[in-house]
Amino acid sequence: MSIGVFDSGVGGLTVHRALVNRLPQADFIYLADQANAPYGGRPGEEVVNLTRAGCERLFDAGASVVVLACNTASAIALRRLQQTWLPGYRKALGRPVNVLGIIVPTIEAATGLPWEHEAERRGDKVEQLDVLGVFSTQGTTNSRVYEIEIDKRKQDIAVFSQACPDLVPMIEADAGAVDLAKAVEGYVQALKNRIGRYPDRAVLGCTHYEIIADIFRAALPAGTPMIQQPAATADALERYFERHPELDPGTGGGRVFLTTGEPGPQNALVQTFWGGPLRFEAA
Ligand code: DGL
Repeated sequence: MSIGVFDSGVGGLTVHRALVNRLPQADFIYLADQANAPYGGRPGEEVVNLTRAGCERLFDAGASVVVLACNTASAIALRRLQQTWLPGYRKALGRPVNVLGIIVPTIEAATGLPWEHEAERRGDKVEQLDVLGVFSTQGTTNSRVYEIEIDKRKQDIAVFSQACPDLVPMIEADAGAVDLAKAVEGYVQALKNRIGRYPDRAVLGCTHYEIIADIFRAALPAGTPMIQQPAATADALERYFERHPELDPGTGGGRVFLTTGEPGPQNALVQTFWGGPLRFEAA
């Protein structure tokens, strides 16, 4: 058995890298849906169907758990798949399997509370609150998943999401640091104008933003804490396997990389996400 990691494309390699480093003995299969990326601007129904197809491919390949290393898929598809598809699929497969996302671990890191926690209603004003700014794709922002889920468990955190629709295309087109800094500055200022001040903490809620974390850091007031999804997801996955001995992550240290796009050696951008040279096989 193995751990499947699914992303719309290659940004999820930032998360994958942290998972592999945390569980080096486990067998991993990464699937990049490059033929259909990006997901950030797609209608929700398409994101659900593509994510389900990706999970099926990974379970077929022997995954016991699939991690959706994509905020857009986690925000839009995860709950739907867990409720409407996974129970029947699990039964048909005849073995225990599960699908996990990267938003739960991020929220756990942001609130310090486990997923099950539900808060009492409070009526604090925004000036007294711990204000969390979430930068993400249009799809994740529209889903309001961070606002809804954080509000359920910690009402002294006010969440403001900022869609940054230009960033994924710019990063994929290898935009220069100056242009990226200008775009990030624009999004940070747009968020600040809506809140009336800078956020106290920030979530980089898109796989691609990890590699421009320094640009976000420079655009935010010095020292603004940032919640890093790769580390938060690795922490959560390690704890998950401790609680679920029935799910087997494998012990052979295998590393398989599949793509629905162009197989073969990958370009410099992919190497930046992964942190080294990489070959994809055809999915
Ligand atoms: N992986 C996506 C995410 O984290 C970004 C790329 C896309 O839009 O597909 O939201």
